[in-house]
Amino acid sequence: MSTFNELDAIDLNDIDGFWAKPTEYRHAAFDALRAEPRLPFFPEPEFGMAPRGPGYYALTRMDDILQVSRDAARFISGKGTGNVVDLPPEMVAEFGESMITMDGPRHGRLRRIVSRAFTPKAMNAVMDNVTQVAKGIIDEVIERGECDAVTDISAKLPLRIICDMMGVPESQHEFVFKQTNLLLGLSDPDYVAEQDDALGVMFNASQALADLMHELAAHRAANPADDLISTLLSAEIDGEVLTPSELASFFILLVSAGTETTRNAISWGIELLTTFPEQRTVWLSDLDRVTPTAVEEIVRWASPVIFQRRTVAEDAEPIELGGRQLGPGDKVLMFYWAANRDPRYFENPERFDVLRSPNPHIGYGGPGPHFCLGAHMARLELKVIFRQLLTRIPDIRVTGEPVRLKSSLVNGIKSLPVTFTPGSPSRRTDLDAT
Ligand code: HEM
Repeated sequence: MSTFNELDAIDLNDIDGFWAKPTEYRHAAFDALRAEPRLPFFPEPEFGMAPRGPGYYALTRMDDILQVSRDAARFISGKGTGNVVDLPPEMVAEFGESMITMDGPRHGRLRRIVSRAFTPKAMNAVMDNVTQVAKGIIDEVIERGECDAVTDISAKLPLRIICDMMGVPESQHEFVFKQTNLLLGLSDPDYVAEQDDALGVMFNASQALADLMHELAAHRAANPADDLISTLLSAEIDGEVLTPSELASFFILLVSAGTETTRNAISWGIELLTTFPEQRTVWLSDLDRVTPTAVEEIVRWASPVIFQRRTVAEDAEPIELGGRQLGPGDKVLMFYWAANRDPRYFENPERFDVLRSPNPHIGYGGPGPHFCLGAHMARLELKVIFRQLLTRIPDIRVTGEPVRLKSSLVNGIKSLPVTFTPGSPSRRTDLDAT
């Protein structure tokens, strides 16, 4: 039985009253929700001018999420995944053609076109670049002995890698960074002032990224190069190429899904090294052996994507789930963050254990057609950056409270002050990659 005794007080829509509270509070609340025999139901939050829908069920048990995730025919993504509220049709028409919100054969077609760029083999090809970028990032801070781990370290690696892959020039990286912060920080007043219409901000940021993509595509159509945009422009499946709107939506998805998630995993990893010093010792004792399990454990513990939504398909028969009967149009939110702490799957779930094995976490999504396309890439980036950190500034430690993003979707850290013993730039040393 859970010790949390205020079940009625849990409001998953309340950013300040729930998501901004200390992590321990969130743990206790999710433990209580997980222990409920019937799936808890919540009304929908307000989101700009979007109409308020019927509400949603909160899934916190691993078994329930696995069931939904595997059943993509009945639990569809096409009505929205990262948002509880349905987006207005104009917005969906303009930017909704992204594969994360597609179902069935259409999703499969897009995924086949782009997945070649993200296979383990393709990742071997970008490994050198990831290592060089990671080295350069540490070079820039190593002599200072202190920095903000988010802006100076974590945010830089995934942004550089995905922009390099897409062929976005360096002069535009900062612009991409700003727009993705807006897209994923819609509920945080540091990014979107409370008086602003979150939907409008989302539309404008999406439009700005789409414009950049169209510019790059026009340039690449005339000057093909060895980058993902050129591949996407020329890719054909069954004689079809991506439409301009599919291209733009894919670009928006990649730069947002590929940057914020990995960035937050790195930041949480640095935080965890400070909170669990004995785990740092274990990791440092054998980098080769421990790094693969440690980076999985960071993703389990951090669960950078807190939830994704599914909606019961219009033609679905009634479905039994978590003591409820669901029908067409019902919404479920799969709280990966909570399932990754399900004691039926993880012993001592609150413990950060760099050697945890098995570790059947679903931080990259559950099994099914939408499993994270960039998981190999994220793993590579995490392995490379932590190897650099633990080899070159192994005593890096957090010196102040992490400033957390106010969001129910992204388990983000906006700022993380750290100190470490200064060292020398890597150009004079020769470090291995992973
Ligand atoms: C630690 C880092 C990452 C985490 C925790 C993460 C998490 C996730 C999750 C939970 C999903 C499932 C969405 C769903 O089922 O509805 C997903 C999908 C996706 N991710 Fe990641 N992701 C990470 C890194 C990346 C990277 C580096 C990229 C690309 C460069 C990427 C691109 C994508 C794409 C394109 C999808 C949609 C796949 C589809 O709909 O078929 N992700 N990710």
